[in-house]
Amino acid sequence: MVPCIALSKGRLEKAAIDFFEAEPLVDKGRKLCIETNRYRFIFAKGIDVATYVEYGIADLGIVGEDILLEYQPDVFDLFPLSFGQCRFSLAGKPGHIVTGPKKRIATKYPNITLNYFRKRGESVDIVKLEGSVELAPVLGLADAIVDIVETGSTLKENGLVVYDDIRPISARLIANRSALKVKREVLKPLLERFQEKEVGA
Ligand code: PRP
Repeated sequence: MVPCIALSKGRLEKAAIDFFEAEPLVDKGRKLCIETNRYRFIFAKGIDVATYVEYGIADLGIVGEDILLEYQPDVFDLFPLSFGQCRFSLAGKPGHIVTGPKKRIATKYPNITLNYFRKRGESVDIVKLEGSVELAPVLGLADAIVDIVETGSTLKENGLVVYDDIRPISARLIANRSALKVKREVLKPLLERFQEKEVGA
């Protein structure tokens, strides 16, 4: 059986497709499962990539580090990849002074946000959003956001600034824990290819 690789749709999708240089991936249209003569690829949302890998449906996955940090899936985090580089930042309106006893922070990443403020010794209220988080401080839903910043365009175009850079993140190669042992020989050439192309890139 050929190795199954789960790829994240969205931000990381193009770079992951480019890595495999496989014609059927480039022309995949809306298909979510693609078989070539060497691999089976599945395309899913980042958190679902981690789930498919955790349950062993996919042997390997390419996923943003944001997913690993927020959801802590039970997968082997093999190594960082050279693409998908961005950062977690705390951002909001320029010169905004937080009033009231507690800051209200909007984010897609409540666990990462709580950890960050815990380390600062501050207690915050979290408003969980699913996307377009930048709207929250603009419309007064929250004092600030914790979100991924890649080019900085979304912040800039919505009149927001970075207050603090929390940590850099990148795409990561993950693996199912038992596949690494059981399918060792089948996965070896692919892992070597990743290592040659990506590690230290
Ligand atoms: C991410 C992130 C920011 C944006 C940052 O959102 O949540 O909104 O990208 O990128 P930039 O710094 O290059 O502008 P994404 O597009 O993944 O989707 P979302 O808005 O649905 O959260």
